[in-house]
Amino acid sequence: MKHLLSKLYLVLTAVFMMACSNEEVDAEPVDGGNQFIGSKTLIVYYSYTNHTEEIVADLKGMINADVIEVEPEEKGLDYSANNYAIGTEQLTKIKNNPGVESSYPAIDPVDVDMSQYNTVIIATPLWWSQMASNMQTFLFKYGQEMDGKNIGLIVSSHSSGISDVEADAKRLVPNGQFMSKSLWINNANHSKRKSMLEQWLLDVDYTNLSATTNNTMYLKINNNIFTVDLESNSSAEALVDLLKEGDITYEAHDYGDFEKVGELGYTLPEDNKQITTEPGDVILYNGNNICIFYGSNSWSYTRLGKIRDINTDDLKKVLGNGDVAVTFTLANPTFASLTRANSSESKMIYSINGTKLSQVPEKGFYIENGVKKIK
Ligand SMILES: Cc1cc2nc3c(=O)[nH]c(=O)nc-3n(C[C@H](O)[C@H](O)[C@H](O)COP(=O)(O)O)c2cc1C
Repeated sequence: MKHLLSKLYLVLTAVFMMACSNEEVDAEPVDGGNQFIGSKTLIVYYSYTNHTEEIVADLKGMINADVIEVEPEEKGLDYSANNYAIGTEQLTKIKNNPGVESSYPAIDPVDVDMSQYNTVIIATPLWWSQMASNMQTFLFKYGQEMDGKNIGLIVSSHSSGISDVEADAKRLVPNGQFMSKSLWINNANHSKRKSMLEQWLLDVDYTNLSATTNNTMYLKINNNIFTVDLESNSSAEALVDLLKEGDITYEAHDYGDFEKVGELGYTLPEDNKQITTEPGDVILYNGNNICIFYGSNSWSYTRLGKIRDINTDDLKKVLGNGDVAVTFTLANPTFASLTRANSSESKMIYSINGTKLSQVPEKGFYIENGVKKIK
């Protein structure tokens, strides 16, 4: 019955849309942006005598991550010749003029889309107590793109301590969220690297830091992005599994003056219960229809989740009149794309991870009205 009504409604909506297509609500995001931060981990490393490479190989067996190796453009250099003269020369050049690209030795081009990653682990040898020059080149090029990401640092040295390497990393990735500690593996304990890596991952709480928690997804409509807190049921789990394969976009239309409904294109297991919906509810109907509620209805539905921190007026503005494309994604928004459409509120404050805050934090990064700030 609901489907019949739905079809009738679609026809009426199409006629209505043709008549009043100019009356769509402008639902542009406040910041005009559409920026995502992905959920993956990147390991980037440089290695001359393979210690760092061995460390990375073991780390790769422990976590799910993409790996990039930095390679100097000039091949076959003997960095250990003449008492490590080349390394000395390169590092001196960087030290004398760290803000200029030509101070850094050229590296092979790297194909990396930083927006896919929320965590970057930098693994590097120590050279003359500093970060090896080739890794510095990579960070000089990409460090600015790592704003707000979790940054881990793993350093391999013969015996020297790594505080200057940490300082190099912080200079080159000025807005990285550095993990609580770096991992230093000197050559004497290189053979214990596996257990050291395991302990470090625990110490920095890697799982929590890097996780795209499976109880959150993001909903994108006309460049506005909302966080959806997912239910603990097999339907939401099945949706998350689908989203791990890639984002899903479907067309939704108004129904009953209380929801936007559209076919997902996939059938999910149902976990139906008689419920009365509220604005912000994301509901599964009939296994393959997704309803986003801006009003209320009582029916036997499966609740997939609920849009976080949204009021009905803002939700209606974003959803607009008529058909709308809705995208579900597990990717985590970087900046406050999580804003409410055309909200009249003057201060919208979010943490860097997109959680709404009641006030500006005492210290650190935050997003105010779509602009990233630090205090
Ligand atoms: C140019 C150069 C300078 C180095 N300087 C130091 C140093 O000051 N202190 C130290 O403990 N080890 C130093 N090392 C040793 C490396 O940090 C160490 O062997 C590391 O494990 C090498 O990692 P890799 O095999 O991934 O290249 C240096 C090595 C090179 C090539």
